[in-house]
Amino acid sequence: MASGNGSNFEALVQACANQQLPAQVVSLVVNNPGCGASQRAERLGIAVTCLDHRTFVSRDSLDGALVEHFHAAAVDLVVMAGWMRIVTRRLIKAFPERLVNIHPSLLPSFRGVDAVGQALAAGVTLGGCTAHLVSEEVDAGLILVQAAVPVLAGDSHDSLARRIQAQEHRILPLAVGLAAERLGLLHRQP
Ligand code: GRF
Repeated sequence: MASGNGSNFEALVQACANQQLPAQVVSLVVNNPGCGASQRAERLGIAVTCLDHRTFVSRDSLDGALVEHFHAAAVDLVVMAGWMRIVTRRLIKAFPERLVNIHPSLLPSFRGVDAVGQALAAGVTLGGCTAHLVSEEVDAGLILVQAAVPVLAGDSHDSLARRIQAQEHRILPLAVGLAAERLGLLHRQP
């Protein structure tokens, strides 16, 4: 699931292609027609479906359509790779322990919107990113993998966000692998 640029989505596809993650990305759902993620999916040959939130009467009905789509695609895991909508219990309950999110802060610090801006405003010297399971409380589910990123003197929102994103691309495939292992979907060689 992606809403914007889609760099995390592409990192997952690449991790699968180079065998780092023994999995297959079978479907991308976007909510913004023509977004970067959707263009990347076309280039990478991944089926893309647009469920535009503006055409649904409620969050719940959008999530109902997502559940239906993912069930039809018979997916084992769902990844929110930059999905800029709050999800409801309808989606969360349909994929218990199977819904992974990536967030640009060291949770539990800086939940919610613009986590990078929140970190800069707070003056922390260490930022980062967290891949976690999704629970009903926003940005509060079980933490799978984190990466710390130092905040440098003179960092702008952009420069810090860029370094955090580079780490997101590294940890998201690791987190998906861990989530799959927890479910017994994936067994690593000893
Ligand atoms: C990422 O920074 C992620 O932490 C946040 O949304 C951003 C998505 O970036 N949830 P991209 O679309 O994967 O490039």
